[in-house]
Amino acid sequence: MNRSMQPVAILFFLLVFLTITSIHFSFCNANHDVVMCMESERQALSAFKQDLVDPSNRLYSWEVEDDCCKWEGVVCNNLTGHVLELHLQNPNTLFDFGSEVTALRGEINASLLNLKHLKYLDLSLNDFGGIPIPSFIGSLASLRCLNLSAAGFGGSIPHQLGNLSSLRFLSLKSSSFGLVFGLMDVDKLQWLLGLSHLEHLDLSYVSLFKEPNWLQVINELPSLVELHLSGCQLDYASPHLLDVNFTSLVVLDLSLNYLYSVIPRWIFSLSSLVSLDLRMNFFVGRLEGFRENGFEGPFPKVFQNMTSLEFLDLSNNELEGPFPKVFQNMTSLEFLDLSNNELEGPFPVLQVKSNLLEFWVWAASMQLLICFVLLGKIVDLSIYWVAEMVVAGDGLLVYGCCLGSPSSDVYGSS
Ligand SMILES: *[C@@H]1O[C@H](CO)[C@@H](O)[C@H](O)[C@H]1NC(C)=O
Ligand SMILES: *[C@@H]1O[C@H](CO)[C@@H](O)[C@H](O)[C@H]1NC(C)=O
Ligand SMILES: *[C@@H]1O[C@H](CO)[C@@H](O)[C@H](O)[C@H]1NC(C)=O
Ligand SMILES: *[C@@H]1O[C@H](CO)[C@@H](O)[C@H](O)[C@H]1NC(C)=O
Ligand SMILES: *[C@@H]1O[C@H](CO)[C@@H](O)[C@H](O)[C@H]1NC(C)=O
Ligand SMILES: *[C@@H]1O[C@H](CO)[C@@H](O)[C@H](O)[C@H]1NC(C)=O
Ligand SMILES: *[C@@H]1O[C@H](CO)[C@@H](O)[C@H](O)[C@H]1NC(C)=O
Repeated sequence: MNRSMQPVAILFFLLVFLTITSIHFSFCNANHDVVMCMESERQALSAFKQDLVDPSNRLYSWEVEDDCCKWEGVVCNNLTGHVLELHLQNPNTLFDFGSEVTALRGEINASLLNLKHLKYLDLSLNDFGGIPIPSFIGSLASLRCLNLSAAGFGGSIPHQLGNLSSLRFLSLKSSSFGLVFGLMDVDKLQWLLGLSHLEHLDLSYVSLFKEPNWLQVINELPSLVELHLSGCQLDYASPHLLDVNFTSLVVLDLSLNYLYSVIPRWIFSLSSLVSLDLRMNFFVGRLEGFRENGFEGPFPKVFQNMTSLEFLDLSNNELEGPFPKVFQNMTSLEFLDLSNNELEGPFPVLQVKSNLLEFWVWAASMQLLICFVLLGKIVDLSIYWVAEMVVAGDGLLVYGCCLGSPSSDVYGSS
C-alpha cells in the first residue's frame, strides 16, 4: 500500500512545485513577454536592415532575437506591440574616434512604410554617402520626430516631407562634410507649410540660396519654438517685416550667413527668446537704438523686450557705436559675445543675477582675460570695470557669470 502511494505523492509535490514556479514565472514576465512584435513589422525591419551596411554590427540583436521589440534601438507600444520608435543614431559623433566604423551606411528600404505607427525616427550621425533623403519618408504619416541630422544625405530635400502633418521636430541639418558632398539644398520651402504643428526646425548647412522667401514661409509656422538656420547661405532677412507670427520662439540661430543689413527689427520683437545667435554675418549699424539704424520715428531701445535672454552672440559683425545701455536690464544673461565689431565707449552697468556661474570679461584688443570671482548677488560690473574703458576694434566678450573684483592686470596693461 505504502509503496504504491509513494509515486503518487511525488507526482503531487512535483505538480505543486511546477504550478508555483510557473505562477512565479508568469508574474516575472508579465511586463515583457505578453506583447510581442507584429510579424509584418518584424519583416519590414528585417528588409530595412538588409539594405543597411553595419560594419560594427551594432544591430547584432536584430539577427539573434525573435521578438523585434527587443532589438537594439526599437521601441514598441507595450500594449499593442506596434513599433513606435527607431533610435538608430550613431552612438559616436563625427569627432569621436571610430565614428566612421559605427556609422550605418547603405540604403533605406521603403519597407519602413509598413511601420504604420512609427512616431520617432532618428538616423542622425550615420553616413548615407550623399544619397538624397528618400521621398517615401514623407508617407510615414504618424511621425512626430524626424532626426536626420548629420546623416550624410545630399541633394535636394524632397517636398513630400510636407505631408508629415503631425511632425513636431524636424532636423535635416547637413553634416560638416557637406562641403565635400555638396550641401543639401531646397528650391522652394512651400512644403514646410504642411507642418503646421512644427515646434523645432533645424536646417543648418542646408542651402536656402534658391529660396529668397524663406522668412515669409517660416513666418506661417506659428508654433515654432526653436529655429536653427546656421550656414544656410541666407543673404536677406527682410529687415522691414513688421508682424512675426512665431512669437513663442525661444531659440533663434542665424549665424554664419551672408546677412548684410541692419539687424532686422522683427528679431527684437521676439520677447520669449532665451538664445539668440547672430555671429558671423555682416550686420551693420548701431546697437543702441533703431533711429540710428535707419528706421523712422522715436523707436524704443533695441533689446528692451528681450528680458529672458540668457545667450547672446553678436560677434564678428560690423556693428558700431556705443555699447547699448540696455544690457543693464538683462538680468538673465549668462553669455554675451560682442567681439570683433566696431563698438566703443564705456562698458555699461551690467547687473548679473546668479549664484553659480562664473563671469568672464575678455577685451581681445588688449589681450586681457579677467576672471571675476563669484559673489552670488546682483553686481554692478561697472564698479569693477576701469571707468572709461574703451574697447574699440576687437570689442568685448562677456560670458559665464558671477562677479567679484578684477585682477590688478586690468589697470596695468592699457
Ligand atoms: C507601457 O508604456 C507606458 C508609456 O510608454 C508606460 O508608462 C508604462 O509604464 C508601460 N507599462 C508597462 C507594463 O511596461
Ligand atoms: C527592400 O527590401 C526588399 C526585401 O529584402 C527587397 O526585395 C527590395 O528590393 C528592397 N527595396 C529596395 C528599394 O531596396
Ligand atoms: C537629433 O540628433 C542629434 C545628433 O544625434 C542630437 O544631438 C539631437 O539631440 C537629436 N534631437 C532629438 C530631438 O532627438
Ligand atoms: C503628399 O503625398 C501625396 C501622395 O500621397 C503626393 O501626391 C503629394 O505630392 C504629397 N504632397 C507633398 C506636399 O509632398
Ligand atoms: C502670419 O503673419 C502674416 C502677416 O505678417 C499674416 O498675413 C499671416 O496670415 C500669418 N499667418 C499665420 C499662419 O498666422
Ligand atoms: C516692446 O514691447 C512694447 C509693448 O509691447 C512695444 O510697444 C515695443 O515696440 C517693443 N519694442 C521692440 C523693440 O520691439
Ligand atoms: C530698464 O528697465 C527700467 C524699468 O523697466 C526702465 O525704466 C529703463 O528705461 C530700462 N533701461 C534701459 C536702458 O532700457
